[in-house]
Amino acid sequence: MDKLFEKALESYHHSYSPYSKFAVGASILLKDGTIVGGTNVENASYGLSNCAERSCLFAVYSLGYHKEDIVKMMVVANTPKPVSPCGACRQVISELVPKEADIILSNLKHDTKIMKIHELLPYAFTDEDLS
Ligand code: THU
Repeated sequence: MDKLFEKALESYHHSYSPYSKFAVGASILLKDGTIVGGTNVENASYGLSNCAERSCLFAVYSLGYHKEDIVKMMVVANTPKPVSPCGACRQVISELVPKEADIILSNLKHDTKIMKIHELLPYAFTDEDLS
């Protein structure tokens, strides 16, 4: 089993999702070889829940890494097909992950679909739209 999948799966098992009962795990490989995991963390006030992809990305940045340090990202859930990241996560990924990075979608069977962020979120809103 590859290390990126292993970390995403470990994070999947850390999920705090008592409301949806839908666990998600994410992992990110950094250029220095570090692999960081993240999971979905829900709240009784549902809207305050955080997805695995964003938990993982925020952990990476909280550790002091930036966009240019990221090689690839993986997401895992118990879905028939490789899991599809939500729209909010696509927007956050588009700003925080390099455009050339593989976003590897997977499930517990390790079926995989490798995508780039422009395929997941074409015509994204960016900081250039603010000026
Ligand atoms: N979820 C994620 O963690 N990532 C996604 O891309 C899709 C949805 C979480 C949010 C919520 O905790 C649960 O899955 C059900 O929507």
